[in-house]
Amino acid sequence: MKLIIANWKMYLGVKESIALAKKTFSRKNETVICPSFIALSEVKKVLNKGVKLGAQNVSWQEDGALTGEVSAGMLFELGCKYVIVGHSERRRFLKEGDLVIREKLKAVLAKKITPIFCVSDLKELVVLNDLVAEKLVVAYEPVWAIDTGKIPTMDEISDMHKKIRIRVMKSIKNFRVIYGGSVDENNIEKIFVTPGVDGVLVGGASIKLNSWRKIICG
Ligand code: PGA
Repeated sequence: MKLIIANWKMYLGVKESIALAKKTFSRKNETVICPSFIALSEVKKVLNKGVKLGAQNVSWQEDGALTGEVSAGMLFELGCKYVIVGHSERRRFLKEGDLVIREKLKAVLAKKITPIFCVSDLKELVVLNDLVAEKLVVAYEPVWAIDTGKIPTMDEISDMHKKIRIRVMKSIKNFRVIYGGSVDENNIEKIFVTPGVDGVLVGGASIKLNSWRKIICG
């Protein structure tokens, strides 16, 4: 069973998120949708059987005077099972660095939510040093492949997944390594059969109904 995660980024409002969530199914794979914060509670109400809810971001703190932030506890209350942490768009545009990403991972794990920890290279795995995690998803997302229509060769994906696996298994037992970056209905099949790939994180193609349908239905 593969893990298929939709990252709707800042694309869909509440109505559009509800409509797409209703058309999202979890058949032979495990499907997760990560709408924007504003749509989480409404999307939760319409999720089809087996489809899980995820968030795109989280605060590094449990609570406090942090205007505009959303805590892991709040996401847990809404029924989130996954949270994306360390996405390259946040690293780039919001200058999120290893320190804050590590604190976010800890905050998420403390609430028994599974982090989807995004890395674009092996160096970024340093954040996991000495981190105690019951469950983890590592998403290998080369920055140049995000939203560009370009993807690495399957050999490159397999090689990176193997290296990530070797590094993560030193400290964490229960983890999956997924690929992200320009995944669509045309490349999903070959990505799925690539050795070491446990699933995919899908951005742009997850908000287009036809592409998304093909991806989740296989
Ligand atoms: P993309 O985005 O599929 O649009 O390239 C993936 C991601 O940013 O997670």
